[in-house]
Amino acid sequence: MRDNEIKEVVKSKYGEAARRVAAGERGGCGTQASAIPCCDPISSNLYQAGEIAGVPAQAVAASLGCGNPTALAQLNAGETVLDLGSGGGIDVLLSAKRVGPTGKAYGLDMTDDMLALAQENQRKAGVQNVEFIKGEIENIPLPENSVDVVISNCVINLSADKDRVLREAFRVLRRGGRFAVSDVVVRGPVPADIRRSVELWVGCVAGALEEGEYRSKLAAAGFEEIEVEPTRVYGVEDARQFLTAQGVDVEAIAPVVEGKFASAFIRARKPWNHRSLGYARDK
Ligand SMILES: C[S@@+](CC[C@H](N)C(=O)[O-])C[C@H]1O[C@@H](n2cnc3c(N)ncnc32)[C@H](O)[C@@H]1O
Repeated sequence: MRDNEIKEVVKSKYGEAARRVAAGERGGCGTQASAIPCCDPISSNLYQAGEIAGVPAQAVAASLGCGNPTALAQLNAGETVLDLGSGGGIDVLLSAKRVGPTGKAYGLDMTDDMLALAQENQRKAGVQNVEFIKGEIENIPLPENSVDVVISNCVINLSADKDRVLREAFRVLRRGGRFAVSDVVVRGPVPADIRRSVELWVGCVAGALEEGEYRSKLAAAGFEEIEVEPTRVYGVEDARQFLTAQGVDVEAIAPVVEGKFASAFIRARKPWNHRSLGYARDK
């Protein structure tokens, strides 16, 4: 699939998920597991009840992440936060609370129905220091050095051009700014066909990075203090139903898959002494 085709599939899947939530159902990107909230090992139980008190129910129902970046990130009053692929807006609303009225939380998403849902959730939450913007994470519509923290929850794995996403995150961050992202990673070598099947289970569209690759790409984009910390490690049982329906011989691949896929929290920092070379953004 070409980059544009991947984007169209992603938009269509997440547009559908947003419309389901707006109609009073739960989100989910189409896999059997994620259609069942109690049993989705990736997106369920990511947030503590106290944390989401006051967050509109439809923002919680639309949560399709694989971690809880705002719980793990340091967010200070007055800071500006940008959420890449903000979906129904849960992490943007939680960030807005943390940075307070003197700070600001932006949510960036390319899917119209998700943006509409997020804006409706902002209205219900009654928060002013939030702005949802339409755009692609590969081409962030914000100026350089304008953001203190970039968060994201299970979105970078969907991009066909991760180098560009990381360069864009670096560009918009201020010096010393933090990258604090939940994402799915592959731990060590996994044969390509098996990797594709499991990634489809994980995120609708394949594309998770191997842990070491993630570190290298962050370093190549200019980041330092890079850390990748697994938060949920998946076993073959988590994906058995989906893989069986895909015609995969689960017993045969079990030894290769077990423990190789994980949700991780990925941190990095834009160096304090970074000197801009006048470089703006990729065209
Ligand atoms: C897995 S959902 C995660 C949503 C949200 N972060 C959460 O935790 O619920 C992925 C979201 O990212 C958006 N998205 C995916 N690829 C994108 C891209 N290249 N540019 C902008 N948004 C993108 C989709 O529209 C969707 O809303």
